[in-house]
Amino acid sequence: MTDSRPIGLFDSGVGGLSVWREVAQRMPYEATLYFADSAHCPYGPRPAAEIQALSAAITRFLLAHQAKLIVVACNTASAAALETLRAEFDVPIVGMEPAVKPAAEATRTGHVGVLATEGTLNGYLFKNTSQRHARDIEVHVQVGEGLVELVEKGQLDAPETESLLRHYLEPMLAANADQLALGCTHYPLLLPLIERVVAGRATVIDPAQAVARQVQRVLMQRGLEAETGCVTQHCFFTTGQPEPLQTLTAIFSQQQAKISQVSLNW
Ligand code: DGL
Repeated sequence: MTDSRPIGLFDSGVGGLSVWREVAQRMPYEATLYFADSAHCPYGPRPAAEIQALSAAITRFLLAHQAKLIVVACNTASAAALETLRAEFDVPIVGMEPAVKPAAEATRTGHVGVLATEGTLNGYLFKNTSQRHARDIEVHVQVGEGLVELVEKGQLDAPETESLLRHYLEPMLAANADQLALGCTHYPLLLPLIERVVAGRATVIDPAQAVARQVQRVLMQRGLEAETGCVTQHCFFTTGQPEPLQTLTAIFSQQQAKISQVSLNW
């Protein structure tokens, strides 16, 4: 049995494209729907109840467009809403959290850094994972305030973005962190800049590949995989302006993406 329905992914904005890219590369035969809630971005400072309502509305939208599996390609939405989404919707839902476990396993200095939003760092998922996997190491956390907005504006290589990154990362590096977990899907879009700031002093961990592997595993377990060799379609939706999505999808897929502006009932 094969299932040609699309995989639905969502984020508060364009950040989840860092996950979409890995999913599309790993499973080129799977169709996708990507939803960027750029009108309500950033989610980081919003109350959990609001993020739950937005995430539920987006999930309903994706299911109405035939999604067979939902990827919450946003750490902040996963922290606030993964449990409520799983309770409400009868569809497989893959979420994400900062890669504390691999960072804790790989560190040689006993210090790891986590850059994420306020919502993610205050969430149960992060606290639980840190307690379970990083009890014997020092976890240095930093809220990346302002970075999501700069990514949404397309300032991926701007001096302002670089100086903000330096401001956030230098103290963690000075504290001897040799692993740096990117706990927000917007941040891997700044990877060239992050690598320039880190300058070989730490390993930067983006969980997107692990999430794509998990998506593939769940599709296989549930018999939801599309036929390999399928000609696929990728559809993008945004509640904001189409330009940021347009620019990034052109970089990632070298194709003219189909982007629709929509509004959300929540
Ligand atoms: N990409 C989201 C995340 O992974 C961005 C958070 C935000 O909108 O504040 O957390």
